[in-house]
Order: sequence, then C-alpha cells, then structure tokens
Amino acid sequence: MNFSFFSPVEIIFGQGVSKNIAGYIPSLYSKNKNIVCSDFASKFEVKTKSKIEKALVITGKNKGRAGEVINSLKRSGISCELFVQPSEPSIDDIINGVELARKSEVDFVVAIGGGSVIDAGKAIAALTTNTDNIMKYLEVIGDGVPLSEKPLPMIAIPTTSGTGAEVTSNAVISSDKHQVKVSLRSNMMYPDIAIIDPELTIFASPEITATTGMDALTQLIESFTSKFANPITDALSQEGIRRVARSFKKAYSEPLNIEARSDMSFAAMLSGITLSNAKLGAVHGIAGPMGGMVNAPHGLLCASLLGPVISANVRVANDIAINQNQNNLVNNHVSSNQEFQIIGEDIKITLNKYSKIAQILTNNTGLVECNDLINYINELLHHLKIKEISSKALPKFELSQIELIAQKSKDSSSMKGNPVTLSFNQIKNIIEQSFFSKI
Ligand SMILES: [Fe+2]
Repeated sequence: MNFSFFSPVEIIFGQGVSKNIAGYIPSLYSKNKNIVCSDFASKFEVKTKSKIEKALVITGKNKGRAGEVINSLKRSGISCELFVQPSEPSIDDIINGVELARKSEVDFVVAIGGGSVIDAGKAIAALTTNTDNIMKYLEVIGDGVPLSEKPLPMIAIPTTSGTGAEVTSNAVISSDKHQVKVSLRSNMMYPDIAIIDPELTIFASPEITATTGMDALTQLIESFTSKFANPITDALSQEGIRRVARSFKKAYSEPLNIEARSDMSFAAMLSGITLSNAKLGAVHGIAGPMGGMVNAPHGLLCASLLGPVISANVRVANDIAINQNQNNLVNNHVSSNQEFQIIGEDIKITLNKYSKIAQILTNNTGLVECNDLINYINELLHHLKIKEISSKALPKFELSQIELIAQKSKDSSSMKGNPVTLSFNQIKNIIEQSFFSKI
C-alpha cells in the first residue's frame, strides 16, 4: 500500500463558531509570524508588520452575511476593508481585489460566502504577495509558473455546502477572453483556517442548497472512484456519502434543520479534502470546459452529468471485465485491441465501489446494481426539482459546441482521475444525455 495524504487546514467546525472569529486570530498569527513577506514589502514599500491589524473581508452580493464577522473583528481592534464578489470570479475581479488589498495594506484575508467568494479570497491572498502578472501563474491559458511567495494569511468561512473550497488549494477563475474557467493552484493556497458554521447555511435558498449539494455528492463519488483514491480518501468519501444520504433531502425541504445542515456542511468539507488528495473524474472533466461556455451554476452541471457518467463508466468497466474474462479463458492474455482500457485501478475495485455507493445511498446492504444507483440519482434530482432549475439556467447546445466540449474534456485534468478511459464519442453521448435528458 503506497499513498500520500495532505490536508493542512485548521478546521473549526460547529454551530455558531463563526461568531467568535476574532478568537482564532492568535492562531492565524502564530502560523504566519512574518506576516508581510520581504519581496512583497520591498516592491511595494510596505513595512513588514509584526501583528495583524487589518483584514480584507470578501463577501458575496449579500453583504449582510458578513455583519457578525466584521463586528467580531472590529471589537478586537481589527479594521476591515470590504470587497464584494457577487459571482464566479473573473481575472479582472481578482486584479481589482489584489489592487485593493495592496492599496489598503491589509494583513490577512477573510472570505465569507459560497465557493466563488472563497476562491476569490484564495486567489487575492496569493496574488497580493506574488507580484507578477496573473497570467504567469494561471494553468492552461497562462504559464502555470508556481507561486514563489507565501500568500497573505487567510480564513475561509463557507455559507453553502458544496465545493469544499475552504479546504482545497486551488481557485477557479473565469477568463471571458478565452471562454474557459481555469485554476490558480498551489500547496501554499490552502486557507490557514476554515471556520465551518452550519448555521450560516440556513440562509441558502432551496436552489442553492440543491445545486451545491449535488456538487458535494458528485465530488465525493468521483474522488471515491478516482484512480488516485487511497485508503484515507476512501474512508472519508464514504462517510461523506453517508451524510448526504441521511440529510440532503432534509436540508433541502427543512432549511432550518440544523442537524441536516451540519451533515451537509461536513460532507462538503470532506469532499474538498478527498478531491484535493484523490482528484475527480469525468463529471468534473466535462463540467469544467462546459462551465466556461455557459453561464450556469457548477453544481447544476454536475447534477446533470452525474447519472450519464456513472452509466458510461460502469458500462465500460463491465465491457472490459467481460473481455478480460473471455481472453483469459482463451489464452490467459488480454487483447491489445480493446477500444478502452482500465487505467490504474483494478476493474473489480471500480465496480465494487459503484456498488458500495449504491448501497450507502439506497440504504440497502444487499445486492444492488448500477441501475439502482441511477434510479436513486434520478429520484434525488426529481426531489430537488433540478429539472425546473435546468430549464431556467441551461441553454441548449449546438452539435458543434458539444463536440468542442467533448474535445476539451478529454484533455482536462479532472478526466485523468476517471476510473476508465472514455472515448470522444462516449463523452459526446454523455453530454447529449445530460443536456437533453428528461430528468
Ligand atoms: Fe465541483
């Protein structure tokens, strides 16, 4: 057994914990004694500070959500500069945030909001101290040069249960020019502290609860079945799926049910930890390029793709298993002419993992099949009214767009974690099924 596991974020979890954010500042300070790095300081003539005095607080469009946090900081003598990130961050948003952070000489960043706000916080914290043009550091459309300086200290406070961005090391940023979403990524970009307060998520609308929860569930399933999964991520992702099975529908139907909200916050956090270590799969491989072309919530794309991707993966895995059996029977040799080949993970493990997911979600410890899993997902999407949200938020793709997404998906980094290799035509079929499906 060989694997590595890394999760450096200090996690503060519990109902009401965000009210005492000032109480965690000493911990933030002890982790970042040299608060302003020397290179940044000399370039911008900022004196190196010995204590934390000023915060950049990043919020979503509902600024009121940050009220208690700002008051707690102010009561402890910390002044706050506010930056509003109303939607998924673009390159220009990050440049504006960095400008404000430098001009205001903030000492640390607090991001309180959904995944977009936390991603903006991570990117702004990173690029305030790493002073070259943003394109130098971005993956895919930029040079992908690693960060050289430690980002500003950062506290992440999620108000939704979805991306798990509070415990991951990348920030997703959209480029209007390139019509694509890309990541700024570094092991130095993990937030120092994640304050996860399920009470904050009771304000999430049913639509947000549904789409963000589907993102968390998808991340748990994809990291569990990823070819990079390890025994620790396996344990965590199964626990996350268990929490989702127990509480997703309840959190959606009873927004004030704090136990259900806690389970979903916990599951989303676990999904961030597992995806950081085990990567993801075809749903995210396709949702990435698709999200760069349509203005739709990431979780909605995941919801729409999840069933078709599982069906395709299980079908390919079964085909390979049958081929292997036949070939083994003939001459104990696997044909090199197979259209698809398992990458890494043993095919039996992949199929067993899908059965395990079906068992957990359907609460059935007996024999369950892929169809039971697909039926569960369809029933869940129906309960969450995903079809209604889709009809409002998802435009129809032309065939040429579907082919372009399929092409980009094949090369995306998430696709590399998928347990089986999918052909261009299979990816195209998945997109057609997801978009035109009658969920
Ligand atoms: Fe996701």
